[in-house]
Formats: sequence, structure tokens, C-alpha cells
Amino acid sequence: MESILNSLSDKDFVKIKKIVLNHAGLVLKDDKKDKIFSKLKNRMKKLNIFDLNVYCRYLIANRAELEEFVNLLTNLSTYFFRENHHFIYLAQHILPELLSQKNRIRIWSAGCATGEEAYSIAITVYENVQHIENYDIKILATDISSMGLAVAKEGRYRANDLKMFSSERRQNVFTLIQYQNIEYLQIKNSIKKLIYFNHLNLFEFWPMKGLFDVIFCRNIFIYFSKEKAEFLLNRLDKQLAPGGFLIVGHAESSFIYKLKYLRVAETIYKKPISGNIV
Ligand SMILES: C[S@@+](CC[C@H](N)C(=O)[O-])C[C@H]1O[C@@H](n2cnc3c(N)ncnc32)[C@H](O)[C@@H]1O
Repeated sequence: MESILNSLSDKDFVKIKKIVLNHAGLVLKDDKKDKIFSKLKNRMKKLNIFDLNVYCRYLIANRAELEEFVNLLTNLSTYFFRENHHFIYLAQHILPELLSQKNRIRIWSAGCATGEEAYSIAITVYENVQHIENYDIKILATDISSMGLAVAKEGRYRANDLKMFSSERRQNVFTLIQYQNIEYLQIKNSIKKLIYFNHLNLFEFWPMKGLFDVIFCRNIFIYFSKEKAEFLLNRLDKQLAPGGFLIVGHAESSFIYKLKYLRVAETIYKKPISGNIV
């Protein structure tokens, strides 16, 4: 019986790194080499491939496998109301400002992982917009990870992990359910219907035609190379309406100055209405 790789040479690791960087923009760190090697071996074993060169060719030629492999490498860590000051600012400043001008609002959670970010936005909208039925407010939530999106679309989270929510919020936003003897909180349809979940690789074609009023792109840039991060930033700029808001993660503000947006709060930036602020 042929054996799978015993180790991953530096040269081969570079090959894998290049493929993942080109496809998803992700930088695989050297200290993760062992972890990545073990995932790679499992994948190859499953496919009965014993040679890394063969697997690399297969990865490049077979899109489904590339997506499957990248699925194993993405970091899906997230939680409800992460960096809560973003949601407070959304409720107290962004929503009132936008709703004083129009009743159609589009928000994008770019890199929504397992959905908590998109639901936190939807809960904020639901709890703060009176007569929500009079407005056309939609949230697009996208991610490259099909595993993340599957959880996001379910909208069902372990009740034990959501103990921080007040009983009022629990009642308004979730339904308590039992599933395989475990208690879960299921997002109510009134919240869920505000969101569209979709698979989207930030470095491939974006099918969205309209501009967004608010873009959350948080805790993602840190995984990309500098070139990819700057490329993405310029793309986000084109997809954001004049006067719109870009919200990034706490460690991601250092290069936003390139857009010449106005910093309105910590890691929250406003695109000028016309021309750049100099
Ligand atoms: C650490 S999570 C951040 C989740 C959420 N935005 C937050 O701040 O809690 C990073 C997410 O970025 C996604 N991601 C990584 N590369 C991506 C790409 N090229 N296109 C779209 N999503 C990507 C991952 O799948 C993962 O869900």
C-alpha cells in the first residue's frame, strides 16, 4: 500500500501557500505548517492521492476541491455583538442619519462566518427602527466558507453560549428549542428575513449591482496579504455609496487612511459624499 506524505517540505508548503493566496487572498503562516499538513494529508487520503504534486494539480484544476480545501483553512471565529461599540454606533448614529434621508438601506456583512455578525446587525436594526415595516432594509451576508454559511443559514445557536442576552432580547429575538437534548436559541423569522446569505469569495466576481450604505468587513483583512488587503479595500470603496460607512476590525485600521475617509468613531469610517477629504 502506498503511503501518503510523511512531511511537508518547505518547497511544497510554498506551493500550497501560493494556491491559497491566489484563490482566497489568505496568507498561511509558517507556524501553522504542521496543522495545514495534517489537513492536507486527510484530504489526500480521502481522495486516494499519494503525491503532493498530483494533489496541487488537482487543486488548481478542480474548483470544488479548491473550495473544500480552503474551507478547512478559514478561521471562522466570531460571536454575537463582537466589538459592541460598532452596533451601538449603528443604532445611535448611522441608522438615524440614513433613515432621515431615505427609507431604503442596504448593509453588507462581508465575511459573516457562522452568521453572528449579520444577526447582530439585524437585531440592532430590529430593536432600533420603529415601524420597520415602513422601511426597505436588507442585509447581505457573505462568506467564502460553505461550512460557515450552513450554520449561518440555520440561525440556531447553543443557548449556553448566549447567556449574556437579557431575557427581553431572548424573547423578542429567539425561540428556545430542544435539539438532540441540547437547548438552542433559534433566530426568529422576523429577524432572519432581513438577511440574505450568499457564498462569495471577496477576490472573485461580485454579483451585487447596487451600492451599500454600510459595509462591515471585520477581522478579515488581517488574514490577507498587504496587496490583497489593499485591492479589497479599493473594491469595497467602489461598492460603498457616497456618505456610506465602512466598519473594520480593531486591528485593521492602519491602512484605511488610504481611502481618505472620515474617521467618525473607533474603526468606523465615512466615505465623503463627493470627492475625497484631503
Ligand atoms: C475571523 S472570521 C470574522 C467573522 C466576522 N466578520 C467577525 O468579525 O466576527 C473571518 C471570515 O472571513 C472569511 N474569509 C476569509 N477569506 C475570505 C475570502 N477570500 N472571501 C470571503 N470570505 C473570506 C472566513 O471564511 C471567515 O468566515
